[in-house]
Amino acid sequence: ESVVPRIGIHDLALATSHYALPLTALADHHGIDPAKFTVGIGQDVMSVLGPDEDIVTMAAEATSRIIERNGTDGIRTLLFATESGIDQSKSAGVYVHQLVGLPQQVRVVELKQACYSATAALQFAVGLIARDPSQKVLVVASDVARYDLGSSGESTQGAAAAAMLVQADPALLTVENPAGVFTEDVMDFWRPNYRSTALVDGKGSIRAYLNAIGGAWEDYRAQGGASLEDFAAICYHQPFTKMASKAHRHLAVLSGANPTPDEVAAYLADTMRYNRVIGNSYTASVYVALASLLDHHEGDLTGARVGLASYGSGSVAEFFGGVVQPGYREHLRVAEHTAMIDSRVMLDHTAYEVLHKTTLPEDGREYLTARETARPYRFAGLGDHQRRYERTL
Ligand code: HMG
Repeated sequence: ESVVPRIGIHDLALATSHYALPLTALADHHGIDPAKFTVGIGQDVMSVLGPDEDIVTMAAEATSRIIERNGTDGIRTLLFATESGIDQSKSAGVYVHQLVGLPQQVRVVELKQACYSATAALQFAVGLIARDPSQKVLVVASDVARYDLGSSGESTQGAAAAAMLVQADPALLTVENPAGVFTEDVMDFWRPNYRSTALVDGKGSIRAYLNAIGGAWEDYRAQGGASLEDFAAICYHQPFTKMASKAHRHLAVLSGANPTPDEVAAYLADTMRYNRVIGNSYTASVYVALASLLDHHEGDLTGARVGLASYGSGSVAEFFGGVVQPGYREHLRVAEHTAMIDSRVMLDHTAYEVLHKTTLPEDGREYLTARETARPYRFAGLGDHQRRYERTL
């Protein structure tokens, strides 16, 4: 008789930017009531990358923390999920592989489907480990959300990375079967190759998100998945935290319930604490929500079922459950995550605008970035059309 190994997330580390912008500063600049952002959108602060930071520097920081604690034994694969790629050909994960000192006997690849691809990476990792339970997989999600200055998406920017060590007998969360999935070709949000900021049909994207999450949920149920009341918590993709409330209400109504806004807010509160002060981190967002839940939930979640609801515009959605493992608390990184978020340097609106307008040369000439980040890795500059990175600590 074959024994299905317990596979899931053993360790989860976050990283974000050196700078941040309070949304009150954005509201003041545009003459908007700050409550539109803090209440209507549900965001307080957004992470802003310095000139010497990018998806690689955040990803390298998060991945290095995983390796410092767990070593590299058994790691044969690094799956890098992003939609803010820095190269059309080379995986950003290969830079991370070198920066954190992974052995050469590790395969590296980048996956893309808007905010969804980290969930695909996690499921692919589970499949690799089911084939050989002695292997471990690094799943690294890293993104920067950028919209045009003055656009309605501007308040939903942000940046973060989430690195996960996926393995058999994990310390944090086992990934359960089934998974519910849903795909629909829709133009709700996209970024053509020639643009550094995304194009978005704001209201249409909210409808597309709800429709796709509903579709993934119905598929999950049709495959024999648990019912809504079996979940101690659900971590939704959070382009802004209010979106998670809309999504949860949608699944509740599909399940025949009718929770009040206060009930929804209380149910989701712990999953939103980090995203509220980081902003949209695209592929990382749903795993930032998971870290937020585990780091903040006061009661003991051991044995509790947690839902993960992943959405990527364009669009693909997936819903699956996981079970929190005994002793999970000893494997969290609460102090590290809190210190990282609290130590960000707050920008004023003028400095934020300067950073937003900074562009890199496209002619291959030598270009050194300003030395600003206090994080452990920095993007040092360009030369010969190649990006250069260095460790700062
Ligand atoms: P907007 O149109 O400027 O905002 O931009 P609004 O007028 O709709 O107001 C937002 C909310 O604030 C509303 O609440 C207002 O009532 C409320 P709702 O009706 O939605 O519950 N409000 C106030 N509340 C309190 N006090 C006030 C006040 N004023 C207004 N004074 C929008 C909002 C989200 C459209 C915009 O920020 C945007 O386009 N963002 C980017 C797109 C996005 O995040 N879409 C989310 C779904 S798609 C997704 O998640 C995928 C994504 O992550 C990308 C990927 O997959 O790669 C984006």
